[in-house]
This record gives sequence, structure tokens and C-alpha cells, in this order.
Amino acid sequence: MAQTWTPNSWRQKPIQQVPDYPDLAALEATEARLAKYPPLVFAGEARRLKSALANVAEGRGFLLQGGDCAESFAEHGADTIRDFFRAFLQMAVVLTFGAQQPVVKVGRIAGQFAKPRSSGVEKQGDVTLPSYRGDIINGIEFTEEARIPNPERQIMAYRQSAATLNLLRAFAMGGYANLDNVHQWMLGFVKDSPQAERYRKLADRISETMDFMKAIGITSENHPSLRETDFFTSHEALLLGYEQALTRVDSTSGDWYATSGHMIWIGDRTRQPDHAHIEYCRGIKNPLGLKCGPSLTADGLLELIDLLNPANEAGRLTLICRFGHDKVAEHLPRLIRAVEREGKKVVWSCDPMHGNTITLNNYKTRPFERILSEVESFFQIHRAEGSHPGGIHIEMTGNDVTECTGGARALSGDDLADRYHTHCDPRLNADQALELAFLLAERMKGGRDEKKMVVNG
Ligand code: TRP
Ligand code: MN
Repeated sequence: MAQTWTPNSWRQKPIQQVPDYPDLAALEATEARLAKYPPLVFAGEARRLKSALANVAEGRGFLLQGGDCAESFAEHGADTIRDFFRAFLQMAVVLTFGAQQPVVKVGRIAGQFAKPRSSGVEKQGDVTLPSYRGDIINGIEFTEEARIPNPERQIMAYRQSAATLNLLRAFAMGGYANLDNVHQWMLGFVKDSPQAERYRKLADRISETMDFMKAIGITSENHPSLRETDFFTSHEALLLGYEQALTRVDSTSGDWYATSGHMIWIGDRTRQPDHAHIEYCRGIKNPLGLKCGPSLTADGLLELIDLLNPANEAGRLTLICRFGHDKVAEHLPRLIRAVEREGKKVVWSCDPMHGNTITLNNYKTRPFERILSEVESFFQIHRAEGSHPGGIHIEMTGNDVTECTGGARALSGDDLADRYHTHCDPRLNADQALELAFLLAERMKGGRDEKKMVVNG
């Protein structure tokens, strides 16, 4: 098996989900241009993320990964990025408190542009056109012109990623992520929530902790870690020509890295062991995600783990499980048992979005209750198996959209039409995302109390 890997060895393998570019010479020219552009991330950052994830794999941390289903060119702007980051950081604080562990913060952002599709074509009335595959490939408008894959879009995606990442770095290191700010926003959320009573208890305990730290002289002026945070980027590595163009040798280690983002993942539809996506990913040193859906067998998973993480390095591989609230109990235990039996080091993360999509009033939506239910089952199953429920992977936005039903404001099917903006799958809005964090934090604390009772009793 161990054939030589090169950044383009994937081109010798069968591949799924490739766009049909009409002008291959133009595509090649674009990839050659991209190959000369500066990397978006530095290999040292990817290593830092890997070591943070190694702690998660060993039970000493929690991974929060989230962002748009698909980023869009049209919605690229400072406000969208800021509002996302603001909601995301509030979730992180609440989860840090709930888990009493560091939260590793990874956005689905600054590169999340390419979408796998179940069908290559979309039919409206009697017109059939190529499916929309994400702004990095073609346009969402239902016209022939928009749907033709255009390589120039890769350059636009690269530039948008660079600008987004630049702002996020400034926010993360420049004072916006100050814990005091995030704490105040969080209190604002609780005050306005219809579930204020329920969330206030946890919020008050966070406030007390902050006051205590201040009283003993730990402030953001004298402790940079209170005003700065490590924030990482991730996306699905679907468009391999783009990924290859941004694959670079790290001069400090001599290793190959994907420099399109810190972490990349492999989708549930492109994880065939002898196909191109696995081939590309096995050769780069970044932390990797692998989406695990109902069709993945225990043996299939072990085969993929050996391909992607032959050295069994903790932090290298995150298994992002997406079964559906009604299927997780059937599928997750057998995967956990196989992985534990073989002593494989992985981060277990729960994607409660992709297995819980339904159609309501002609809108693709996801009921909040089902999302919560899948995460709760995920936690329960890990507790029963003695493994670490290491993280969540969600589709969310900082905007006040109406794409998922339910939550404290009880969005109904009739509300969906109000602000349904997603380019692809329905996302949790800022309130729903934060609510999920509060409900999980409560549960994590409950889990710890239970453990203490077992130890003390
Ligand atoms: N640096 C710490 C961390 O990232 C504390 C922190 C600062 C923080 N700002 C934050 C935590 C915002 C969550 C959200 O964990
Ligand atoms: Mn999606």
C-alpha cells in the first residue's frame, strides 16, 4: 500500500464529486497561478492545533467546530464575520465552563466553499442544469451561465479566505475576544432569552468566577491569555485541484501541509479508501477530520484510520459522526468499540446537523430538538462506553436567520420563509447555537457530578 505520495498522486485515483470544467486549459492556468500565491496558514499553526486536539483525544479538552454550511461570495463582509465570531466565542466560554476543560476553537470558515451534491443536476420545471457546487465552483442562480464551473472562482475564494482569516486573526489577538467582552455579550443573550431563568444559573456562576479572578488580580491587562484566543480554520477538502495548489513543504520540518486552512476534513461521500480524497489527505500533516455516516462499517473505519493515521498520532484524526438522532444509538457504539479495541487515538466529535435534515413547507430544515437529541445521545453513549465525547461540529451563523425550527423562540415551519438565507443547508442562528451550548454545558456538569458521586459514594 505505502506507495509514494506526492501532492498530485490523487490524480491517479478514481474520484467522486468532480465539477465538469468546460475549459481545462483555463483550469490548469488558474491552479498554476494559485500555486504561486502565499499560503493562507503556517504549518506551525496546524501543528499547534494538532497538539491541542491531542489533548482532546486524551480526554483533556473539548472541540468546538462550527460555521456556515457554505460560505458565499455575496455575503462576504465584516459584519457577517464579526457576528459569527461573537456567537462562536460565547459558545466557547459557556462550554469551557461546562466542561471545565479548554475548548479548542475551529471555525468552518475562511475556505468552506465547496459542496458535495447527491445529484449532478438540478431540475426546475422542465429545465435541467448542473447542480450548484459552492461558490468556489459555480453560481447559485438557476441559469445556465451561472452553473458552468468557472476556475476564476477559485481565485476569488482564495482572496475571500485570506481577507476573512485576516479579520479573524485581528479579532482573536487584538482585543475583541477579551473574556470580559464575551462574558458581557453572554449576559445580554441570557437576559433576552425566553429561557432566561434556565440559563441564568450557569451564567451567574461564570460571573462569580470572573469576579473572583478579578479580586485576586488576574485581569486581561496582566494576563494576555484572558484577552486573546487561539482560533483555527477548517473546511471540507473537496476540490482537490485547489487544495493541491496550496499544498506546500514546510521549510521548518520538510513536511507537506495543506495551507488552505488549519484543519481539513473528508466528506462522507468521498471517503472510499482507494479513491482520490483519501489519497490526498494521507500525505499532508495537518489535523484531519473524517465524516462518519450510517454506511461506515467498523472494519471500514479501521481501514481508513490506518490509511490516514498509520502512526496512531493523537490529534491527527477527528471522527465527525453524523448519524441522525434516531440512528446514532444503532451506529455509534460499534464504531467506538472497534476503535477502543484497537487502541486507536481519535477525537470523537458529533455533527448533529447532517443526519437531521427534513423538508417542511418546501424548505430544508432541521428541528432543534433533534439536533439536541443527537448530541445528548452522543454524550450518553460515550459515557456508557467509557470514551470521551470530545466535541461538536455544527452549522451556524451569527445572524438572526430562520432556517432551523425550534429553540427557545420556538421557530415554526411557517417562520422559515422570513429569513431563510443559507446557500446550502439550514444553520442554527446565533440564539439557537448559544442555547445548544448552554444545554450541553448543563449536561456536562451533570455528568461530572454523577462521576463524583460514584467516586465519593
Ligand atoms: N485564552 C483562553 C481561551 O481561549 C481564554 C479566553 C479568552 C476565551 N477569550 C476567550 C475563551 C473567548 C473563550 C472565548 O480559552
Ligand atoms: Mn452542510
